[in-house]
Amino acid sequence: MKTYLSTTFLLFLALLLARCTTTPVSEEVAVVPPTGVIADEAMVVSAHPLASEVGAEILKQGGNAVDAAIAVQFALAVVYPAAGNIGGGGFMVIREAEGLTNTLDYREKAPLAATRDMYLDENDEVIKGASRLGHLASGVPGSVDGMVKAHERYGSLPWETLVQPSVDLAADGFVLTEREARGLNRSKEVFQEANTQNPEFLLNESEWQAGDTIYMPELAATMERVRDEGRAGFYEGETAELLVAEMERGGGIMTMDDLAQYESKFREPIVTEYDGMRFISMPPPSSGGIALAQLLQSIEDFPLDEMGHNSAATAHAMAEAERRVYADRATYLGDADFYPVPVFELLDPEYNQARMGNFDEATATPSAMISEGNPAPAEAMETTHFSIIDKDRNAVSVTTTLNGGYGSKVVVGGAGFLLNNEMDDFSIKPGFPNMFGLVGGEANAIQPEKRMLSSMTPTIVEKNDSLYMVVGTPGGSTIITSVYQTILNVVEHGMGMQEAVTAGRFHHQWKPDTIFAEPTAFSIDVAQKLKDMGHHIVERSSIGRVDAILVLSDGKLEGGADPRGDDTAVGY
Ligand code: DON
Repeated sequence: MKTYLSTTFLLFLALLLARCTTTPVSEEVAVVPPTGVIADEAMVVSAHPLASEVGAEILKQGGNAVDAAIAVQFALAVVYPAAGNIGGGGFMVIREAEGLTNTLDYREKAPLAATRDMYLDENDEVIKGASRLGHLASGVPGSVDGMVKAHERYGSLPWETLVQPSVDLAADGFVLTEREARGLNRSKEVFQEANTQNPEFLLNESEWQAGDTIYMPELAATMERVRDEGRAGFYEGETAELLVAEMERGGGIMTMDDLAQYESKFREPIVTEYDGMRFISMPPPSSGGIALAQLLQSIEDFPLDEMGHNSAATAHAMAEAERRVYADRATYLGDADFYPVPVFELLDPEYNQARMGNFDEATATPSAMISEGNPAPAEAMETTHFSIIDKDRNAVSVTTTLNGGYGSKVVVGGAGFLLNNEMDDFSIKPGFPNMFGLVGGEANAIQPEKRMLSSMTPTIVEKNDSLYMVVGTPGGSTIITSVYQTILNVVEHGMGMQEAVTAGRFHHQWKPDTIFAEPTAFSIDVAQKLKDMGHHIVERSSIGRVDAILVLSDGKLEGGADPRGDDTAVGY
């Protein structure tokens, strides 16, 4: 597929992406100690201190990593409404202590009444904002079904024990962090625009302040139904009726049938080897696992350790690999249940090394000269990630999302939870960029019940057949490259987990033809060298929020909690 985007438009997009940060705040990054929290036995690292506490408490009660993940998913739905959710979806990668691996896809699906051109007007022009804000933007939520399936297969503690902490947090209230208070205040107007009733977390008279306690009785009642009835507590009965009534009030298309038919799925992980390590990650409908594997294969022959961390040579090689892999993503990746994704061909090391065949170590290759390869003989943002290891060394890596910050901004009246705006992750028109500037075509076109393509890359790494690292991040299109850099920071540049997470990041996604870089990513000298090679560099205040755990050589665990957010490691 070829995409034709005017230079002006690409410049606009570059500026837009440069402005949009993945954290909803003016990001003053605290000074972080180089070493993260160290624990002997078990650890949870998530985007919110209260959610990490909930997870660690479940582990202390004898729950396993999947039990803790379920409790953290639900706790984040209360304390971190920008991204934590029951009205969205996500992916879970699991590695049991004995080495068995699995993934769970609880990604949202297009409603039955969705159509390929539902976001285009009669002139085939994109209707501004329709896939992002309000009732039409939501896919059918997958989180509750996902947690139920995860519990049925892996859970050890009773379901009620895992849901109760989120009931308590919503009913008894919790204290807002400064970041969350700012996020809610900043979104006030858009919440009012999108909603048919005033959401309960906006019922305060004045602005929210850090330290305020927020109560969510409607959400507490929904979580009680989920606690008492499991799947039926969300997809049937009162919660489902409230959701469908909300859709009818706001002109949405989701129905009781959509909810009844939603099913999460266990899927075979994408596994690739790099430097003797095994990387276990998410298959389609995420592009994350495939793209990460392609990126690793593309640079395996480069001596990155000698080339140096974030040196001009390293950044150039990585950015060139990124532009090629994202070109493939735009054409070949979509929901493999609906489109023949050439998974094996894209994961062929020879193919990926050949894609780097025209790499020039002195000069950037313009993206206009790169299109997708031919692998087959035969194509204000928020998400959140958490990483968990239990005392038996079961590991879970979860990335979950509403897509944009607070999703579609629609709170289900009477049920108190936010709905996603995941429909924007489809290619709503060939070549038309989504909110992350990603383009796509046929593979990711809208079809009823299809899952929209994702970049989420929850990953588990094995070294010498043993658990080594659990890693992932939010960040839309930058997720894949942030996971890639964090891994390379450890395995090539010898960093510990916290240092690898804190280090400055950069990102290239083929289109726009730009390296987005955090202010701390490159020295002035390195930035100049990259510009001299022909790279266009745009500064971006913050990229990603990686939460990761590393198994140290003495068997202890080091948490890496991203200082770009409220992220917190709790271990014991
Ligand atoms: O699935 C995806 O790739 C996107 N919906 C993720 C959105 C995201 O990471 C926003 N966070 N910063």
